[in-house]
Amino acid sequence: MTNEKNIKESFSKIKEDINSLKYDINSLKTQQNPRVENSGKKRGLITGITGQDGAYLAEFLLNKGYEVYGFHRRTSMDVFDRIGHLRKEIKLVEGDVTDLGSIIRVIKEINPDEIYNLAAQSFVPDSWTQPISTVEINALGVINILEAIRILNPRIKFYQASTSEMFGKVHETPQTENTLFHPRSPYAASKAFGYYITQNYRESYNIFACNGVLFNHESSKRGKQFVTRKISHSVAKIKLGYQEYFEIGNMDAKRDWGYAGDYVEAMWLMMQKEKSDNYVIGTGETHSVREFIEESFKMVGMPIKWEGKGINEVGKYKDRIVVKVSPKFYRPAEVDYLLANPAKAKKVLGWTPKTKFKELVKMMVESDLDRLKKYGLQEEDKSRLDSH
Ligand code: NAP
Ligand code: GDD
Repeated sequence: MTNEKNIKESFSKIKEDINSLKYDINSLKTQQNPRVENSGKKRGLITGITGQDGAYLAEFLLNKGYEVYGFHRRTSMDVFDRIGHLRKEIKLVEGDVTDLGSIIRVIKEINPDEIYNLAAQSFVPDSWTQPISTVEINALGVINILEAIRILNPRIKFYQASTSEMFGKVHETPQTENTLFHPRSPYAASKAFGYYITQNYRESYNIFACNGVLFNHESSKRGKQFVTRKISHSVAKIKLGYQEYFEIGNMDAKRDWGYAGDYVEAMWLMMQKEKSDNYVIGTGETHSVREFIEESFKMVGMPIKWEGKGINEVGKYKDRIVVKVSPKFYRPAEVDYLLANPAKAKKVLGWTPKTKFKELVKMMVESDLDRLKKYGLQEEDKSRLDSH
């Protein structure tokens, strides 16, 4: 009897040992990202895949030979217009950065080499009307992903989409990696948390975690509520006779505007370095909203002149009013002036922006003209992006 008991105990001990060995091997495998070794391809997981940068980054990583996974949330409408051309090549996975469970599930399934966290409530004015959900997505969303990485596989590299909005009421010009933050909106404050927690997980847990402090970057895929696309789209509509004029807010705000297609390369370059760090990404040139409007009208052969002051100021093409000022678009606290010093990115990453201001304006206005001519106003306007 005792013998039988001993044998049973020994068997059970052997079983336990085998299980624990299995566990060790599995966790070792996880650390080495076995799927990458097997397929020979790196795996990139992009949150915010349906946004402007998500679309450009997905294309960039596919061209670099990555397996690209796009993390997207459930929506009531199809939101894949920006990545329609890549749908067959990207693997879409459903989740929400505010839902830790969904992040854990996706990371366990994919075990990516690199995570690019682009998900955000990114429209600054909406951060005053929806401050708490902005914080949940932009701040808690970041720590959710970092926690999942820490627990599941600390070898996964992490990119955080930080922003020049954090400089806000700027303490020095141009802004560098060492410039003090002074957030001017719930958006900027939430992003400052994302920045610091990314840096903190790097320092606390030795996780490879980068902050790309990106200045405004635009493209024909930019949401129509952001000022550049609002202008290019409105100017195209005016040129084609669909609209008389458009309304605008503070035209004296200045931004360092670059091209989104150039900026996704900087994100990737940061993730290929030996050590993770914070980088300012911008062009080193700044222009006002007013200049963007003037240049856009010039592109369509309708040069404008300004008349009046403040809220009575108007932009005229010949005798026609084509731009009006509306306080509706003023913000409770404004970021007046942004200008990047991207010297570190140039020196350490070898990154320089390729697209100049005038080329960017031309690209955006021409794209809106082409789309309107091709689809007409009604079809083109059905896009969910036309809300402001
Ligand atoms: P965007 O076009 O507004 O895209 C934001 C993306 O985040 C969308 O795909 C959106 O999905 C997704 N998202 C929002 N809430 C989410 C949630 N709870 N869970 C999962 N996904 C969620 O922004 P972008 O211009 O591409 O910018 C990308 C990132 O860079 C953002 O974090 C932004 O704050 C930051 N950034 C942008 C700039 C710039 O000038 N573009 C500059 C500096 C930093 P839906 O389609 O479902 O809404
Ligand atoms: N959107 C908008 N609409 N902005 C206007 C308007 C208008 O009618 N009129 C003037 N502006 C001014 C805003 O007051 C702001 O000073 C400037 O144009 C740029 O506004 P947005 O294009 O909405 O961008 P943003 O600078 O507030 O934020 C963008 O860039 C950040 C990086 O600095 C967003 O992409 C953020 O997500 C990003 O972090």
